[in-house]
Amino acid sequence: MNRKNIVLEHSLQQAIKIYSNADDASVYVANKIAQIIKTKQEKGNLAVLGLATGSTPKGVYKELVRLHQSEGLSFQNVVTFNLDEYYPMHPVEDQSYVSFMKHNLFNHIDVPKNQIHIPDGTLELNAIQAYCDLYEKKIADFGGLDMQLLGIGRSGHIGFNEPGSLQGSMTRLVQLDDITRKDAADDFGGAEHVPTQAITMGIQTIVQAKQIFLLALSERKAEIIKKALKGEISPEVPATFLQQLEHVEYVLDQKAAALL
Ligand code: PGA
Repeated sequence: MNRKNIVLEHSLQQAIKIYSNADDASVYVANKIAQIIKTKQEKGNLAVLGLATGSTPKGVYKELVRLHQSEGLSFQNVVTFNLDEYYPMHPVEDQSYVSFMKHNLFNHIDVPKNQIHIPDGTLELNAIQAYCDLYEKKIADFGGLDMQLLGIGRSGHIGFNEPGSLQGSMTRLVQLDDITRKDAADDFGGAEHVPTQAITMGIQTIVQAKQIFLLALSERKAEIIKKALKGEISPEVPATFLQQLEHVEYVLDQKAAALL
């Protein structure tokens, strides 16, 4: 191993936090997010949070709801941008990420509704790119994301940036990978009913966030976590682009970290 690799290996080790169970990992991330919100509150500023969906962040949201309900954490100064949404998708559908976010977080906290942003899955095809450009502009107008929460798909995706996504990609319409559609099959009553497309923030949108937390839980993620953290940086595993950053924390339970 040459010196550069040793330095990289050292900083990677510092970026990895391994918890004995999923709850502890989730509480750690929730407390980090709460700290960002409170620090911004003290300065009279907005906290701009990039949020994720899927089974992984549910424990983080549960703890944030608890902090709101039992410890008085206010979300009045919070602005949110979700990573992605299926396309096409109507917000009232059970599988929409709008429904997910309401159910798991927004209905239980005091974030002002007009400060919530989730990609719109109801647009006409020819209106999508302009909408995506505006999504980017809105993030920039708020001064960028203070924090981005990420899960990781077994395809190696972050957001819905599937294999083949470029480092410079921005918010856009994408095709979903077969693995991703298979993993969503239960939610839709069969993989064939999972939409084939989605709107997602890009890799570039994500890496510009000031702080990034990638949370991975359970043995189902062990293999992709090994590739994402230790594999060659490549569009074939989009999460590997995070290896180049100093402001990422990989928060894992022991099962997801088993192959590191
Ligand atoms: P999951 O999805 O949390 O449901 O495993 C993660 C992701 O696809 O990013």
